[in-house]
Amino acid sequence: MKLLVTGGCGFIGSNFVRLILTEHPQWQLTNVDLLTYAGNRERLADVEGNRNYFFERIDIADKDRMEDVFARTRPDAVVHIAAETHVDRSIMDSAPFLHSNVIGTQVILDACTRHKVNKMVHVSTDEVYGPAGPEESFDENAPLKPRNPYSATKAAADHLVMAHHLVNGLNVVITRSTNNYGPHQHPEKLLPLVITNCMENQPLPVYGDGMQQRDWLYVEDHCRGILAALEKGKAGEVYNLSAGCERPNLDIIKAVCRTLGKGEDKIRFVKDRPSHDRRYSLDSSKAENELGFKPGPPIEERLGQLVGWYEQNRQWWESIKAGEFKDYYKEAYKDRV
Ligand code: DAU
Repeated sequence: MKLLVTGGCGFIGSNFVRLILTEHPQWQLTNVDLLTYAGNRERLADVEGNRNYFFERIDIADKDRMEDVFARTRPDAVVHIAAETHVDRSIMDSAPFLHSNVIGTQVILDACTRHKVNKMVHVSTDEVYGPAGPEESFDENAPLKPRNPYSATKAAADHLVMAHHLVNGLNVVITRSTNNYGPHQHPEKLLPLVITNCMENQPLPVYGDGMQQRDWLYVEDHCRGILAALEKGKAGEVYNLSAGCERPNLDIIKAVCRTLGKGEDKIRFVKDRPSHDRRYSLDSSKAENELGFKPGPPIEERLGQLVGWYEQNRQWWESIKAGEFKDYYKEAYKDRV
């Protein structure tokens, strides 16, 4: 199998690349990644040199360069993970989100159609459904009601993927997952931000009242779900991937403090994110029944190991925090902490 993965130097992408090279060492994997602020080749330092792993630094929205890489590598399947992902950044400037998430997806779909790719898996998010009410849990038939620029571009991409299935007969599968966590996550996201700020005795910013709920899925469990969708997902189908591990943000932040043996005195309730979705909740019984998807233990059982990873890999996140992130943090949190 020749597989083309987009965004393989990102957090989820790099975990997916490693999973493929481990589970399917015979597959040839081409990783297309632009190495934006969120992409980082160090995440895959352990697989560089693998004879079945190839890296191409390309903008997925660059039609000519994507055409070239499809022509040279002739992929049987494509797993499209590349995206701009951070909600707060999309509120500050949505242009890069339209570029990568919408135009980039369209370029990939056109290339898949032209090159008669056998299967295209599009990695999406629970955010496209918008917030769930207190008793609600969305299945794959729920309408898409995104409420921030990031999720609006992901919903647009999902619609484009389905349209290419219907119009061109492209074999597509969409996965929609809940919040991921794990090693090598960019420190702009809640968990790594709180873990690393806590280690540095810096304030821990809680948006609003901190009672928003997210469902925490371990990144490797998510990647196993994507692989199952690639191997077993049916054409034109959507599969929700959730952990069944919903927690209020404040509980997660307090659990990090406890795990690091710190008090809660650095917790700061700050100005809320505009149009902040209160709760996401997915019903993933379809993926469990049809793909054999089964998430592992809950976040509390993994927090010790996770915090240990950030303690042992200080240099990795310290260099990120010392770079572009510094300006972003200053700007994004200027009215907050
Ligand atoms: O639900 C899946 C989505 O999860 C993905 O599609 C997105 O790409 C990913 O960024 C993530 O979105 P969230 O907005 O849920 O993740 P984030 O880590 O930014 O925030 C998690 C929750 O914590 C959210 O309710 C906002 C809150 N938060 C976040 C930050 C960064 C805070 O209270 N303080 C913070 O400083």
